[in-house]
Order: sequence, then C-alpha cells, then structure tokens
Amino acid sequence: MVNLGLIGYGYWGPNLLRNFADLPRVKLAAVSDLDSKRLETVQRRYPGVRTTSDYRDLVRDPAIDAIAIATPVQSHFELGLAALRAGKHLWLEKPMTGTSDQARTLVDEAMKQKRVLLVDHTFVYTGAIRKMGEIIRSGDLGKVLYYDSIRVNLGLFQRDVNVISDLAVHDFSILEFLLGESPSAVSASGTNHFPGTPENLAYITLFYDSGTIAHVNVSWLAPVKVRQILIGGSKKMITYDDMESSEKVKVYDKGVSFTDDPEKIQEMRVGYRTGDMWAPKLDATEALRIEGDHFIDCIERGETPRTDGSLGVRVVELIEAATSSMRGRGESVHVRRQESKT
Ligand SMILES: NC(=O)c1ccc[n+]([C@@H]2O[C@H](COP(=O)([O-])OP(=O)(O)OC[C@H]3O[C@@H](n4cnc5c(N)ncnc54)[C@H](O)[C@@H]3O)[C@@H](O)[C@H]2O)c1
Repeated sequence: MVNLGLIGYGYWGPNLLRNFADLPRVKLAAVSDLDSKRLETVQRRYPGVRTTSDYRDLVRDPAIDAIAIATPVQSHFELGLAALRAGKHLWLEKPMTGTSDQARTLVDEAMKQKRVLLVDHTFVYTGAIRKMGEIIRSGDLGKVLYYDSIRVNLGLFQRDVNVISDLAVHDFSILEFLLGESPSAVSASGTNHFPGTPENLAYITLFYDSGTIAHVNVSWLAPVKVRQILIGGSKKMITYDDMESSEKVKVYDKGVSFTDDPEKIQEMRVGYRTGDMWAPKLDATEALRIEGDHFIDCIERGETPRTDGSLGVRVVELIEAATSSMRGRGESVHVRRQESKT
C-alpha cells in the first residue's frame, strides 16, 4: 500500500483524489488546501481522510509515502522541493514549474533522493494518444511530416499564466511522446487583447531536425470549443477530434508520391493515393486512472514514469522558448537543452 497525500483541492485536485481513491494499492492519508471550504468538501466526500491548511503537515508525516501537488504553478517548485527533500515520491501537476531552472532542480533532487517524479501530462495516458503513438511507432504512418493542432474555446482567462502555458503545454507533451524528438527551434506569435493580462491567443511553429514541422494554435477567445489534431505521414494520415464521443481517431490511407522516372517526366509526376479510412478501437479507461496505476507501479518497481521529470523539463523549456519568441514577434528561438546538474 502506498500512503498518499494531496496538496491542492481546487478544480483539478478532486479528479486526482477520486481516481486515487479507486486504486486498491493506495491509501488516502491526508489532503491540504488553504481554503477551509474545500477541506470541508473533502471531509464530506472522504470521511476518515485527514485535512489541514498547512501542507507541511503532509511533508513532515513519516507515514506518507507519496505526495500529489495540484496547486497553481507558482507554488509547484517550493512545495515539490519540500516533498522530495522529505523523501516523498512526487506527482506534480503540469506545467511542472514556472521556470526550467526550477524544473531541473526538482529532477536533480528526485535523483538524489531516489524517488519517483511524475509530471501529470494527462493526455499522454489517454486511449487516443496511446493508440496514435502505437500507430506511429509501428511505422504504419511512415515518416511524420507534420503535426497540426487547434485547441481553442471561450476559455477560463488565467491571471498567472499565458495561454501557451495553459493549453499549448498539452501539445508539447503529446509531441514529445509521439515523435520521441525535441524541436530545435520555435517561432511563435500571439497577443493579449486585454491590457495587463497574459497572452490569450498564440500560433506556435516548432521545427525539428528530422524535417517534421508542427503548428499549434491555442486561444481562450474562440466562440466554439475545438480540439483537433492532424498528423500527416509519408504513408498515411491521422485525424484526432477530442470533441467526438466515438471514433475520435481516424487513420486515412491517403497521400502523394512523386516519380523521378525520366520516362515519365512529361507526365504528371505526382501520384495521389486515396484509400480506406479506419477508426481504431480506443481504450476508454479514464486517463488519470491509468496514470495513477502507472505511478504506483513506478514506486513499487523503482521504474521511471512515462511522463517523468525530464519530459516535464523539456515541456517547460518549450513554454519558455515559445513565450520568448511570441514577445519578440515571432523571432526564431533555439530550444535550450541543458543537461541536468548531476
Ligand atoms: N493535467 C491536467 O489536464 C490539468 C487540468 C487542470 C489543471 N491542471 C493543473 O492543476 C494545477 C491546479 O489547477 P486548478 O485549476 O485546480 O487550480 P485551482 O486554483 O482551482 O486550485 C488550486 C487549489 O490549490 C490550493 N492551494 C494553493 N496554494 C496552496 C498551498 N500552499 N497549500 C495548500 N493548498 C494550496 C488553493 O486553495 C486551491 O484550492 C495547475 O498546475 C494546473 O495547471 C492540470
């Protein structure tokens, strides 16, 4: 049994607690939140789970093995470092930290303490993204030529983070997982339409040494909710619509081929292929349930999570690079790739 404590029971924390409560290998030990009303809700829903407004009560408790942190990003570093230093395994919400330096410090501390550090990039654990990963890795798609995402709605305007940190963060983690390659440069444009608030709209292009190109459009100012990804491969192409209730992922046997045959030089050199479309069956299990199980597996077996601290660092580096490019009106920014200090 893993004794688990949760810090932060606002919007996302309840989803974590509900899923952890369902895991047979987890015992919910305690929940901390600054808001006493939130703690009353915990007591009502989970009688027997201890509550406190001081997160240090969890950090100091030797009976707690693992801590999940679902507080606003500005507090992730301080709380995460305290938990790791106390020898706890750590589940940290996305984005991992406010800066990549902080993220690297947490990775180093987890290594020093020999503790599991999982960053909750939930999409990576969804049936749809896992299936897309399988298809890409099987070679069915051929070489990935492009990734094109639109993630817009009339979103909750955040005060402390911009739309890149709030929404593009999902594409950054999905891209790292699907491509297994980090971009070498990023160019982004975007704006805040309301003075004094973080940027609410951004168009981000990511360039990869392999030749793959990715584009991500994120906005909190759209009249409809759109969550679509297109992936073009040299053999096949994928569409993913997260708003569909079924058949979210479709694979199209479509593409083009070029001939260099001198005999055919006078003819059309482009061949178009339009074959079948199929919608693969997807695992409908809630992503947080799979991720929670995976976290416990990693703790019990000493394994590295699929979304570990180094993935978390790369995602924060991309947020920094894209934000810096956006503030420089689209100038190309090389993605920092600093090695961990240890
Ligand atoms: N993985 C996902 O898909 C996903 C989705 C939504 C939010 N998130 C992440 O979850 C985190 C929390 O987001 P949210 O929308 O739930 O925020 P929120 O503001 O709704 O909730 C945060 C809660 O943390 C509490 N809190 C803040 N500082 C604290 C402290 N020092 N000690 C104890 N409690 C403290 C607040 O009182 C609040 O109840 C963010 O990092 C966010 O990016 C992840």
